[in-house]
Amino acid sequence: MSNSWTSASGADLSAGYARHAGTLRGALRHALVARALRTHLPSWEQRVLDVGGGDGHQAVQLARAGHHVTVLDPDPAMLQRAQARVEAEPDHVRGRIRLVEGAGENAAQLVGSGFDLVCCHGVLMYLPNPDPFLHALAGVARDGGLLSVLTKNGQALAMRPGLEGRWADALAAMNTRREIGNLGVPTRADTVGDVERILGEADAATIAWYGVRVFTDHLGDTPVGEGFDQVLEAEWQAGARDPYRLVARHFHLISRRVGS
Ligand SMILES: C[S@@+](CC[C@H](N)C(=O)[O-])C[C@H]1O[C@@H](n2cnc3c(N)ncnc32)[C@H](O)[C@@H]1O
Repeated sequence: MSNSWTSASGADLSAGYARHAGTLRGALRHALVARALRTHLPSWEQRVLDVGGGDGHQAVQLARAGHHVTVLDPDPAMLQRAQARVEAEPDHVRGRIRLVEGAGENAAQLVGSGFDLVCCHGVLMYLPNPDPFLHALAGVARDGGLLSVLTKNGQALAMRPGLEGRWADALAAMNTRREIGNLGVPTRADTVGDVERILGEADAATIAWYGVRVFTDHLGDTPVGEGFDQVLEAEWQAGARDPYRLVARHFHLISRRVGS
């Protein structure tokens, strides 16, 4: 499998992603990731790199909280959406966000190093091999800096097709940890253990991990409705404890680079 996002040339994945972000599932993912980041980030100004930061949703949340954010992403269509989102913000927020076109593998050359936080949310699943990518990301975090990785949960990939009654897909997902994702391109899933091992080799140790979408992943494109805060609270609490988080759609792992 090559990078299934960047090799889907001609298909505007950014439009499909924008549609998804407006659904309950998309909104919950963003809100749960933001809440975990708030839990672990110091409140004073941080230097953040969002690798594969896409349309800038998380960058804007972080910049509103006072942090300086560089978004590094190879997809011009996603960056164009990020640019529009950033332009809608007041000057002091806009001034804290920088958009850079390029691949995470080249982060050190493109944006330098020493970041307090390096994010990578919803990117690994499109890559053929997470190892070199995560090593590159760990390499641009400062000693003591945080890494935030969200990807598909390989131990529970069959939950969605299973709950939707798609039995052939459930069997395939269990046995291959691959599937055609929401946007119609091939994706891969990793396990918490896989990512912990790779980051461990890159001198980063896990601080916490959360399950993202335990109760709502089978709801298709249900829009955000009334009671969102209660759904969010239920998902947040389930995502922080076993056994619920083990069957979540994604895992969100936060680690700290300890330095070599
Ligand atoms: C599903 S979107 C996620 C966007 C954003 N992180 C979020 O959580 O909303 C996946 C993003 O990964 C980016 N991407 C794909 N290959 C990449 C690579 N090699 N380096 C950095 N970003 C990459 C895509 O361009 C796209 O913007």
